[in-house]
Amino acid sequence: QQRIPQASAILAASSGAQDQLLPVLHAIQDAIGYIPPGQVDEIASTFNLSRAEVHGVITFYHYFRTEAPARQVVQICRAEACQSMGGDALLAHAESALGCKLHAHSTDGEFALEPVYCLGQCATAPSMMINEALHARVTPARFDALLAKVKE
Ligand code: FES
Repeated sequence: QQRIPQASAILAASSGAQDQLLPVLHAIQDAIGYIPPGQVDEIASTFNLSRAEVHGVITFYHYFRTEAPARQVVQICRAEACQSMGGDALLAHAESALGCKLHAHSTDGEFALEPVYCLGQCATAPSMMINEALHARVTPARFDALLAKVKE
């Protein structure tokens, strides 16, 4: 498991006093977006704690993430109108194109796939969003084209 140099630098700059653990975890997440699991050993030795103690703190505070956030978000509408207008097929296609299920990250880590419940575009279902952009009447072929565009 990888160590991220930026996180190591934050740890190295810390006094190692235990009351600094939370501020340092926040600083790491602010800097790189998550707490790398590969850094737990280093965090433990910096603060003179066990791995289990560090792990306990990270998991206790739901604010901390242990996975890099995806750079882009695909949201597929799962509400009724879209489901009855090809939304299930669209979701199945999105899952196979991204290589992941809902609430997970694509195989390359680039995309998060999330459900959304009605985007107000029921008349032109099925609908979805990629990042801030709303798309209606999305066929699998159109999904591929839209995805290719944001990957550029
Ligand atoms: Fe999908 Fe309304 S149900 S946009």
